[in-house]
Amino acid sequence: MVLTPALRNETDAAVRPSDRLTDRHGRRITDLRISITDRCNYKCVYCRTGNDGAVYAELSIAEYLRMARVFIALGIEKIRLTGGEPLLRRELPQLLRELSALRTLDGEPLDLALTTNGHLLEEMAEPLRAAGLSRITVSMDAVDADKFARITRVPGSYQRVLAGIRAAKRAGLDPVKVNCVLLRGFNEDQIVAFAKFSREEGVIVRFIEFMPLEEDRLWTPESVVSLREITTALNSFKLLVPLAPNAASETAVRYTFDDGVGEIGIIAPVTQAFCGHCSRVRLTSDGKIRTCLFSQTDHDLYGVLQRGGSDDDLAAFIRRTVDQKEARHHIGEPGFLKPSRSMVHIGG
Ligand code: 5AD
Repeated sequence: MVLTPALRNETDAAVRPSDRLTDRHGRRITDLRISITDRCNYKCVYCRTGNDGAVYAELSIAEYLRMARVFIALGIEKIRLTGGEPLLRRELPQLLRELSALRTLDGEPLDLALTTNGHLLEEMAEPLRAAGLSRITVSMDAVDADKFARITRVPGSYQRVLAGIRAAKRAGLDPVKVNCVLLRGFNEDQIVAFAKFSREEGVIVRFIEFMPLEEDRLWTPESVVSLREITTALNSFKLLVPLAPNAASETAVRYTFDDGVGEIGIIAPVTQAFCGHCSRVRLTSDGKIRTCLFSQTDHDLYGVLQRGGSDDDLAAFIRRTVDQKEARHHIGEPGFLKPSRSMVHIGG
């Protein structure tokens, strides 16, 4: 890993291992999500509008890499690449190769993850695996082809994503997780079908409560299909058995069924918020740090780089920004303000 002398020097205050990224609420920040484009080839109803007048912004792969290195020198241990749709960047395998060569402050390989809509995954699964990716998350919101196309607003999307999921399994990506955002009136009837899908395809299915991050104003408290409603539906199909969390900062409540076949995760940011153990920060495709999905402001890390800032300047800016991370979100509370950006412009 190439660093400026100051960043390599462990006696420098910017990188002392005992001084890893922590916010003012005492949370260790170990998890960085980098959006490498805000373009997307889907227009999912819970995310984007049907119109396409948006202006897109993305940086060069070398610029994301430089910022990622500084984050890692401050204690980041896990990087998830997102978008928009990250497979739209042709240089993605190159970025993965470079990231997989980096080491954490403890000398461990980075925990590298990727979230994709799966549309281009059938042909990309092998190259991604070869570039150093070991696991993958694919978004799929229905296991019914017509319903799925109504959500993505792209005909034929179901067949492509299914082929992508199967190619990921064949390429040895493990685990393959499938994210399903439940939206009342669109796909709450898919819960049991997804349970069967998990059991038959050997993938982890994760249901996500709908959050107010969409470009259109669809969200209401009633549009959220809650964790409770999901477990009730699943239990009526087959008895759920809880699984222990993988890590303290785990966002999903995990279950299998009474025969041990299949795995379901439920991510409930609305009805069971997990802000208290949030370990995440996000870097948008235009190089801004977001300390919470629901932040009202961005912090322009790329601006520091553009003005000729050194790695130490970037590190100092990251520290100051992370320190200000919000204690929690306020979804569903009176006075809740929608975030200053929608999901496609933040990155999952
Ligand atoms: N609420 C909940 N989840 C969402 N995602 C996108 N928009 C929303 C929303 N408004 C999901 C995507 C993807 C993950 C990164 O976040 O489907 O799987």
